[in-house]
Amino acid sequence: MTSWSSVEIKAVPDAAPIVVFADGDAIYAPDTHRGRIASAIEATGFDAKAGRWLDLVGKDSDRIVVVAAGAKDSADRWRSAGGHLVDAIRALALKAVRLPAASDLDIGDVLADILEGALLHGFRLDQGRRDPIPGHFGAMLYIAESDLALAGRAQDRAGPVNRARAWVEQPANLLTPATFADEAEAALAPLGVTVRQLGPAELEALGAGGILAVAAGSENEPRLAIAEWRGAPDRDSWDAAFVGKGLTFDAGGLNLKPRPGIAKMKFDMAGGAAVLGAIERLALRKAKANIVAIVPMCENNIDGKSYRPGDVITSLAGLTIDVQDTDAEGRIVLADGVTYAIREYDPAVIVDVATLTGMIMGVLHEDFAGLFTGDDALAASLADAGTAVQEPLWRLPLVASMDYLVESPVADVSNLGAPGWFGAGGGSPVAGAKFIEKFAKDRRWAHLDIAGVGWATRRSSRSGPGATGFGVALLDRWVDLATGA
Ligand code: BES
Ligand code: MN
Ligand code: ZN
Repeated sequence: MTSWSSVEIKAVPDAAPIVVFADGDAIYAPDTHRGRIASAIEATGFDAKAGRWLDLVGKDSDRIVVVAAGAKDSADRWRSAGGHLVDAIRALALKAVRLPAASDLDIGDVLADILEGALLHGFRLDQGRRDPIPGHFGAMLYIAESDLALAGRAQDRAGPVNRARAWVEQPANLLTPATFADEAEAALAPLGVTVRQLGPAELEALGAGGILAVAAGSENEPRLAIAEWRGAPDRDSWDAAFVGKGLTFDAGGLNLKPRPGIAKMKFDMAGGAAVLGAIERLALRKAKANIVAIVPMCENNIDGKSYRPGDVITSLAGLTIDVQDTDAEGRIVLADGVTYAIREYDPAVIVDVATLTGMIMGVLHEDFAGLFTGDDALAASLADAGTAVQEPLWRLPLVASMDYLVESPVADVSNLGAPGWFGAGGGSPVAGAKFIEKFAKDRRWAHLDIAGVGWATRRSSRSGPGATGFGVALLDRWVDLATGA
């Protein structure tokens, strides 16, 4: 089983220390160990609150690590326990631990949640060091042979999230549009996903003027990556298109970004990673739905060939764009992505996912993604999916009276919008959504601004600091809720 997790799961009996769980006064452990654990808890006064663990030191499998499970009322309880298990392994510098069989733990199928939580929380991308940090990689989780199916389920859920995270954390010199597209193809094609890539010549022939304009200032060629999951082959129709922003780096272009934060802009393809991760999840669970992911991939860089502020460019849809700010590039490439989705797939629903605006972070921080749509039913189903997987959305206004935000005196649409009270720079998340809405026309469409939630500065129950993979679980669950697949 490959993953980007610092823990690996194997069904090999071994003499490793044993991990069990506890909360309040409940102990989840094999009967043979209960006595020793209960008296140790009693003797130490161990308070089994989430995030704590108790190390009953001993040799090999005489050692028992008691990990507190999460609060009983938390839906994330067991996944979170898996995360704390990883924290314990790291803090105690253990190379391997053994989990009792699910049947012995008396908690049945939640072992899959524990393992998923461990794989998710254990995510750590090995970017290569001459001197590896001891203990950072390669901790082994041994499980019973009889739990291999549960482990497979955990792996199928965590794997695509961790793959998306690995893409997001990969620096822009290593993850170019071409390598991103190639890696997506290599990951998804073996699962029965049809992956296509359009390069500069095809984009030129197509007239994808938005992607080409943004990409013009970079040595790295753009790609439009398309990944089709046809889980309902008896139908011709497409249930949804997920369009993800795939900027492998966003320097801002000639409207160059200021120093703080520019290095983070390797993460500007988090939306693209999320929609591809969602397709991987759908393929792994063979969802009976037809979903396509479309990811415009390019780099927004500064160069003599860069597009300029004030340029008027023609998008794939034929609408002209007044480029008032070259740093508002995400909406431009998404416009072409959405148009491509409509033309080639005529999908019932379009959802775009993008690290679109810094300003969304000033309101929703790292806790909620911004949800924009004029469609109440779609808003509700997306919000429900987000709540179910702990990737919450917060809806913000998107109404016709705000159309003026993207009006231009010289072209069909402006990428910056009317200067507001916050000055000439704009940056409004609503204006960003309004811009994309122009291209979605009267389709059922929603926009998720994940600029705040795509990267975590703190530990959470399922990730450490770093890329979160936000959107993978949400879109997968949404397909389930919205189409029953
Ligand atoms: N990729 C950025 C959004 C971003 C900024 C995400 C900071 C996370 C942190 C996007 O392309 C961008 O530059 N947006 C501008 C839009 C503005 C020029 C209208 C922004 O938010 O400042
Ligand atoms: Mn930008
Ligand atoms: Zn950007």
